[in-house]
Amino acid sequence: MRYSILMEPARHIRNLTLIGFMGTGKSTVGRLAADHLHFTFLDTDDVIRGRAQAEIAEIFKQHGEPAFREMERKMVEELTRRTKTVISTGGGLPAIQSNLDSLKSHSLVVCLWASPEKIWQRVRGQTHRPLLNEPDPLAKINELLAARAPFYRQADVLINTEFRSLREVSQQVLHQFQVAQRAAQGSMHPPAQFP
Ligand code: S3P
Repeated sequence: MRYSILMEPARHIRNLTLIGFMGTGKSTVGRLAADHLHFTFLDTDDVIRGRAQAEIAEIFKQHGEPAFREMERKMVEELTRRTKTVISTGGGLPAIQSNLDSLKSHSLVVCLWASPEKIWQRVRGQTHRPLLNEPDPLAKINELLAARAPFYRQADVLINTEFRSLREVSQQVLHQFQVAQRAAQGSMHPPAQFP
């Protein structure tokens, strides 16, 4: 695990946001963390699906990916007004720098990580992810992950999910959130690196 939050005095940690590639467990971990913290849980894909009254794959098909990204951008704007919320984002949402910067303005941003092979193992057989409806999904995962890695690496905390249960991952997320909240309140300074 890597922990590298730089706590400038201006940093506000009102929410906890989970980012990461499809299939890394963001929604499951987010729900567990929200239960524990007594926070509201919000999944950006669920909200977009509810508002559009359509599945994500349908939105991609009918309106195209740019329209979906615009819906995500609007969601990100609305999220700045949230408090005590655990937010699970779609995998591509933080790969736009302004989205990521906005999330960091109110949240501790935690990225869940897994290798392309592990991701493929977890998502194969699922059909609701339009970006992976490709002749060679593993190649697509590799390509997208490489393009998004520079954004995912900007998370405050990066947790490898491959060798842990999602319950263990959620415990680590909660621990990091508590440390970050205390640090933001000025009671302690977190280490620059947390093994
Ligand atoms: C996407 C990830 C999906 C969903 C959409 C696009 C992506 O969310 O937002 O299919 O670009 O990686 P999950 O990461 O929750 O699967």
